Formats: sequence, structure tokens, C-alpha cells
Amino acid sequence: MELTNRDFTRLKIFMYNNYGINLENKKKLIETRLALVVKRLGFNDFSSYIDALMKDKTGEYVAIVVEKLTTNFTYFMREEQHFNFLKNNIIIPKIKKNMPSSVNIWCAASSTGEEPYCLAMTSKSALGINKKVNISITASDISMNVLKIAKNGVYSPEKVSKLPSDWVKNYFKQTTNRNYEVIDDIKKMISFKYFNLNGITGWEKNKYDVIFCRNVMIYFDEPTKKKLCTKLSEALKPGGYLIIGLSENLSSQITEFQRVEPSVYKKK
Ligand SMILES: C[S@@+](CC[C@H](N)C(=O)[O-])C[C@H]1O[C@@H](n2cnc3c(N)ncnc32)[C@H](O)[C@@H]1O
Repeated sequence: MELTNRDFTRLKIFMYNNYGINLENKKKLIETRLALVVKRLGFNDFSSYIDALMKDKTGEYVAIVVEKLTTNFTYFMREEQHFNFLKNNIIIPKIKKNMPSSVNIWCAASSTGEEPYCLAMTSKSALGINKKVNISITASDISMNVLKIAKNGVYSPEKVSKLPSDWVKNYFKQTTNRNYEVIDDIKKMISFKYFNLNGITGWEKNKYDVIFCRNVMIYFDEPTKKKLCTKLSEALKPGGYLIIGLSENLSSQITEFQRVEPSVYKKK
């Protein structure tokens, strides 16, 4: 199935304007990754699929493009130093204050859940029996499919093998088919929701102590990143932290943050 230049341009503009996803130079990739799905959905060519995508109000057709053209790749303990940062710089100082308080965390591209569950397990293990600090985690993604997997919280033995063994013991239960399911005590620390980082609605102000927005800005160009960072800084409390992927960086055009260490930024 061939993607004409006209359809490529239509799809590129639509995905960029609505989701900030930059498909420049991805014509071949789209052809190879989308052709089968488009056929399976009953379309004879890309053109009729793109027409349907643009009219679709359910988000179903968009989700397919996002899933096929971006990657949901993630794993437990990915870029582990960030979990240590959360523990040492945010949670432990709160515990030391010995006063009732809360920590609001946003995991802004949570994929299949490994990252928000690591945030919850890091927090829970740092808290121990402390009941004064309340941790609340919002986990969001643009793909309904990954959100469903994340909410389910069931992972294979290979996946959980990356976690410290005491976490596996304390925070998972084994399912009948030898997989591991996150226990309710951890699940209830997290609320999962759909959220488009390039959308204009639903943005919170001054809510979060820390935002993990890791390994998603790679799909966005500089103007999109800049707009996103302004929104993320507004969503943070004064002095809150933004954590991005280790292979990502914020350009000097982004002035709302000061760099604390590689991939960790503080709201000015
Ligand atoms: C490579 S995964 C990163 C997962 C996790 N943050 C990590 O570092 O392991 C990128 C995720 O970003 C999501 N994503 C892509 N564009 C998005 C957008 N505009 N808004 C919200 N999420 C988006 C994808 O659905 C995918 O689950």
C-alpha cells in the first residue's frame, strides 16, 4: 500500500497540530508500520483511512497511529537514578519535617505502567510506616491501550526481574498463570488517565511537586517542547522538579527551569 505525498502531508500536519508528534522524514516508516493495520481496519488505501482519522471523535484511529509510530518502550527501574532523586530530595525531606504533608507526582507519559509503579514503590518503601506524608501519583498517556495495561498492573516474570527482590515480594502477588500483579495498596496510590501533552485542555496549575516527563519529548520538535515546558512549569508548585529522560535535554530557549543535574530541572 502506497502513501502518496499528499496523504503523507495531511497526516503529518494533523499529527503535528493535534498531538505535537513530528513525522518529518517518516514516510517510509508510516508505510511499513501502518499499511497492515489500515488494511485490517477495512480501508483500501491510506487516503480513506486518513479521512476517517480526521473525522473520528472516539480517538480510536488516532491511538493506532500513535501506537504504531511512536514507541511505548519502557521497563521497570529505567534510569534508576531518577527514583533515587525522588526519594532523597523530595520524600525523605518531607518525612524529616515530621508534619502532615503531601507529595503530588505526575508521570506524564506513563506507557504500560512500569514507571508510575516504580514511583509508587519508591515512595512506599521510603515512607515505611510513616503515615504523615501522603503520596499521590497521577499517571497519564495518550494511548488508551497502554493505559489499560497499566491499570491492570500485571507483568511477566522477566519484566519484574529488573526490580529489587524485596519490592517484588512486598508489592506484587503471583497470578495463576505465573505472572505478577501489583497489589492494591500500590495501585491505589496512582490514578491513571488519558492526557494529551500537546492538548490545550485539562492543564493543572501549581499542583505537582515533581513531574516525570521522560522519553516522550523525543517525538516533539523545539517549538512544541517549548510550549510543553511552559505548561509543565505552570503545573508545578514553586520550586518543583521536572525530570526528563537521560538522553533528552532542554534547550536554552526554555527559561522556566534551572538545571540541577543531567535531566533534572527545578522550576525557577
Ligand atoms: C517511549 S514511551 C516512554 C515511557 C516512560 N515515560 C519511560 O520513560 O519509560 C513514550 C510514551 O509517550 C506517549 N506519548 C506520545 N505522545 C504523547 C502525547 N502527545 N501526550 C501524551 N503521551 C504521549 C506514548 O503513547 C508512549 O506511551
